[in-house]
Amino acid sequence: MTVESQKDIDGLKEIGKIVALTINEMKRHARVGMTTKELDDIGGQILKKYGAVPAPKTVYNFPGNTCISINHEIAHGIPGNRKIQPGDLINIDVSAELGGYFADAGHSFVMPPYNPALTRLCDYTYKTMMKVISSLKHGVKMNEIGRIIQTEAKKGGYQVIQNLCSHGVGRSLHESPNEILPYYDRHDKRVLKEGMVITIEPFLSTGADYVVEQPDGWTLCLPDRSFAAQQEHTIIITKGQPIIVTVA
Ligand code: CO
Ligand code: CO
Repeated sequence: MTVESQKDIDGLKEIGKIVALTINEMKRHARVGMTTKELDDIGGQILKKYGAVPAPKTVYNFPGNTCISINHEIAHGIPGNRKIQPGDLINIDVSAELGGYFADAGHSFVMPPYNPALTRLCDYTYKTMMKVISSLKHGVKMNEIGRIIQTEAKKGGYQVIQNLCSHGVGRSLHESPNEILPYYDRHDKRVLKEGMVITIEPFLSTGADYVVEQPDGWTLCLPDRSFAAQQEHTIIITKGQPIIVTVA
């Protein structure tokens, strides 16, 4: 969507804050031995407490309130009986709606004992996301997003997952502008405009550069035994620095 009023900005900030709080609380409660279903229930309760509706469930009939992906799973992991293990790489992706506004955010982190290579992957992906966000404003070409992700990944010694994109958000979970590629596409002539609401969500990998859907019809995994991290914010484009709405 494109924001047209302060009411739109406030509405997005409200749901953005709830989404960020949910991720923070889920991360804080994550324990070895806990199932991903138990962790998802905590997320579901927080969303409910604030009157927010989990978007994957209502929009796509996803079997969970949030997406929880572990190790070689990269996205859209279904909460279930899987128990969190020491040293696991965990991704929590939360998207939700309140008052007709949607926000979407994701966070990858590591359980103790911390594997330094996985910690670096998570931190580096976060820095890449923030580097992209701080480079965007009204008038910048949309393919700048992919150019920066690609450049930063290369500098850090990582691959970019090519088939997972950033996207428009706000009035629904996924909307125009669609398919904001994570690599440079010189044919993409689209330009960022003031008020545009989009996600920035790089996925960086230690090996493969694409994900494949599993037989469950949801979970996206790397085809090799490598690892990937995702960090995601929902932002509003302005004439200056973007407004990050998914902050607690
Ligand atoms: Co997203
Ligand atoms: Co997301």
